[in-house]
Amino acid sequence: MNPGRTTPILALFVVAGALSCDAQGDRPGIIVLPGMVESIPLDTWEPSDLTPSGGALMAPPAGTIPAGHTVFPFGPGEDEAARAGCELSNPLAPTAENLARGEWIYATYCHVCHGPAGEGDGPIIGKFPNPPNLLANHTRELEDGRIYHVIALGQELMPACGTQILSDDRWRATQHVRQLQGIQTAAAATADLAVATDVELEEEAEVELEAEPETAVEAEVSDSPGPPAAPAAGTGGTP
Ligand code: HEC
Repeated sequence: MNPGRTTPILALFVVAGALSCDAQGDRPGIIVLPGMVESIPLDTWEPSDLTPSGGALMAPPAGTIPAGHTVFPFGPGEDEAARAGCELSNPLAPTAENLARGEWIYATYCHVCHGPAGEGDGPIIGKFPNPPNLLANHTRELEDGRIYHVIALGQELMPACGTQILSDDRWRATQHVRQLQGIQTAAAATADLAVATDVELEEEAEVELEAEPETAVEAEVSDSPGPPAAPAAGTGGTP
């Protein structure tokens, strides 16, 4: 480009830059391109005749859900808990990662009441009516979907934890409860799944398992009609 033309343009930028950098404290300096500084959109609480609500802020349309949110179409109460027990099954394979996360969720949200091993002897004892022992037969016989429902929406004195614990973590906490009950372990789950297949597949799974444990478990799960975390006692939430 012709240097005779570029010099004045460069000079203009240098001067504009120097002037606009003059800002100090609440003095904004000279604004060279005000369109970049002044916001054209409405502020959140500003009234507006452009929207049906009469304000900039509009409620989302009915039925809107946040991105990544899992819909849980169940209400509180015994009937809905029973329905969840029938209709839901744990979609997560009991991989070492899921079990470790479930243990962490339990330690964070459940331990305080149900105790470290689920025996109903958490540090809350004495300040709150004693929480039940999760190792009791009654709880062992609850379906996974029902435990998920208890975690999400609470039950009698137990508060709902659904706003703190998202869907996948509720399933992982359920896996940890199963583990405390001695029903669910990563190795036992793999063995359960292998039983459902023929000998050849079983051998194949073992070979894969040695190489890549998670892939093997997941591959098995997609072949298996039952829930991966179904307890050995046969009380899993098979729909
Ligand atoms: C504030 C104390 C408290 C916390 C925290 C708590 N629970 Fe509970 N939980 C209870 C009480 C009390 C009950 C008994 C409710 C009833 O009377 O039906 C209960 C019941 C249950 C049941 C049903 C037992 C049955 O046989 O009916 C399960 C399963 C359960 N809790 C799991 C959990 C898990 C998992 C967590 C953590 C995500 C958790 N609870 C957090 C107090 C608590």
